[in-house]
Amino acid sequence: MEKEIKISGVTKEERYISLLSQIESLILYETDLIAGLSNFSSAIHFGFNFFWTGFYLIKNSELVLGPFQGPVACSRIAYGKGVCGKCWEKKDVIIVDDVNRFPGHIACSSLSKSEMAIPVFDKTNEIVAVFDIDSDKLSFFDEIDKKYIVQAVSYLSHLF
Ligand code: SME
Repeated sequence: MEKEIKISGVTKEERYISLLSQIESLILYETDLIAGLSNFSSAIHFGFNFFWTGFYLIKNSELVLGPFQGPVACSRIAYGKGVCGKCWEKKDVIIVDDVNRFPGHIACSSLSKSEMAIPVFDKTNEIVAVFDIDSDKLSFFDEIDKKYIVQAVSYLSHLF
């Protein structure tokens, strides 16, 4: 049986469950886009000590860097380019186990090893942004991360 990975004695799933209730209360009554996205990035980033966590917002046919936590990152990404641009094009979650094996990956730091990009939809189900998480560990992201981050991102739709 696969060994369950625990961070500070807590499973990934347990950590997401408590993080989600924190995020729900942080976001649900917030109406300002920047305030909501900033706190959302921070809660996820420090909840898991990710390497980089943040938003790219769709503006004038490209992705433009939004609120984030972590080192400086590229500020613009074209449609279909890199992991984030591909996520925008497919309107679906992309999990990359090893960024060096993803054709066209945009490297903002050599310390980033694996990545997950999640589309963000507004109230009318239009894609409006991409939420991107980078880990400094290979193959960090799995179906558990996908399930909980997709749920967390759905709390943001009223902000757009
Ligand atoms: N790696 C991303 C670029 C954004 S950074 O990881 C913060 C990509 O390939 O789209």
